[in-house]
Amino acid sequence: MAYKANDTKNENVTLGALTGSLRDYKAMTGTNMLSRTDGFFDWQEERRRCDLWPYAKSTATAPKTHCAAKTDSGFAMEGVNFASQDYLSLSSHPAVKEAAVEAIKEYGVHSAGSAALLGNTRHSLLLEQRITAFLDGRETVLYPTGWSAGFAAIQGFVRPDDHVVMDVLAHSCLQEGARASTRNIHYHGHLNIRAMERRLQKIRASDTENGILLVTESLFSMHSDTPDIAAMRALCDEYDAVLLVDCAHDFGSMADDGRGHMSLQNVLHDVDIIIGSFSKTFASNGGFISVKDRASAEYLKYYSATQTFSNALSPVQAAAVLAAFDIVDSAEGRDRRRKLMDNILYMRSEMTKVGLETLGDPSAIVPVRVGAEGLARIASRELSGLGAIANLVEYPAVPQGGARFRVQVMSDHSHADVDQLVRLMLQAMRNAEKEYLVLCDQHPSLMKNQRAAAPALDSVRDAA
Ligand SMILES: Cc1ncc(COP(=O)(O)O)c(C=O)c1O
Repeated sequence: MAYKANDTKNENVTLGALTGSLRDYKAMTGTNMLSRTDGFFDWQEERRRCDLWPYAKSTATAPKTHCAAKTDSGFAMEGVNFASQDYLSLSSHPAVKEAAVEAIKEYGVHSAGSAALLGNTRHSLLLEQRITAFLDGRETVLYPTGWSAGFAAIQGFVRPDDHVVMDVLAHSCLQEGARASTRNIHYHGHLNIRAMERRLQKIRASDTENGILLVTESLFSMHSDTPDIAAMRALCDEYDAVLLVDCAHDFGSMADDGRGHMSLQNVLHDVDIIIGSFSKTFASNGGFISVKDRASAEYLKYYSATQTFSNALSPVQAAAVLAAFDIVDSAEGRDRRRKLMDNILYMRSEMTKVGLETLGDPSAIVPVRVGAEGLARIASRELSGLGAIANLVEYPAVPQGGARFRVQVMSDHSHADVDQLVRLMLQAMRNAEKEYLVLCDQHPSLMKNQRAAAPALDSVRDAA
């Protein structure tokens, strides 16, 4: 079965498939914790019947600039691929593939156990040294995924009486790490420095005994925007807090030297705890925590659960990341970042020219605003049918009424690929708007929904 644009008739699209969100099924009640998942499944199936469930797709070919994929109902799609986080296109680089093959020949595919036992390999030790050198001698601890590194950086250091101050939009790994560690979590409005200061002031007014961790990301991946890290450092100094920055998306892919916003803002030495991921620019899986001294690094190795009680990076992953690092930290890496940024700026300007609204600042993630969830679900179906692949993100990952495509650009994309995406996205939006207007006539509550949701995006930033 192949997807075709606009081949779903309006009368087949139900109100339930256009509305509702994952948030509706998070709180569950009832004694049987398995059967109470039925409500979510019914909603998901309703969306599937309407071809409006764009998640859990699988690639049928390598996820390069063009690829073939399938929905989880088996519908095939094929076309330009803007849904890969392989920002420097290193996953298909011959040197990275060769390094992985050589590691398999030498080691097989398994690390023996947790890094706290026998899980390290020659490749993982070299990778630690590589990151340490790249970050000016800071200590490095590797993790099986970036998520587990983010979680560990909080769970490893924060104790129940401590405080975590964090952005309302902080990534799930940071929020879950905080929840696992303390009840003293203080959220502030997105990127809002004054709100951070108010939280810190209030905490220190009543608690001078315990620690405070101020948590942010150097590039928020749903919004493509960035905090003022120097201002956060100053706050940490004033209120005796520790600064954690998760650099998953810009580390390796941004700034001339590849150190992302830490380099662009010249704050590498101002950050106490750096989190990185290998699943984006570094073409593999895994992550790391970088701290300033050996004591903190050694502590993490035995007190952060996802390090101590989880199998270490496999030798294949470590070797692939190491080879990717060599490229990131070379003239070729610079050229790839330049090409990537050229694609990003070109895409943003071409989208604007045709009236598509891009959000945030230039990075490998270009969020393209759609708006109401129902409209966005139809636009996503249309885009796949027309021959372009880009991920849809909707509430609760982004504010209600702020659904968007999260377009991910790679250095191997050409301007022709970008032109194609812009053309197909415009067409998909037009098809979707036409269909959605008819549906709004059939279901007047849809219109109300959309009006109520419109201001939600701004309120995230302004939240006190
Ligand atoms: C800010 C942030 N931290 C951590 C992660 C998790 O990284 P990984 O995919 O390596 O587990 C992500 C993933 O997208 C992320 O955006």
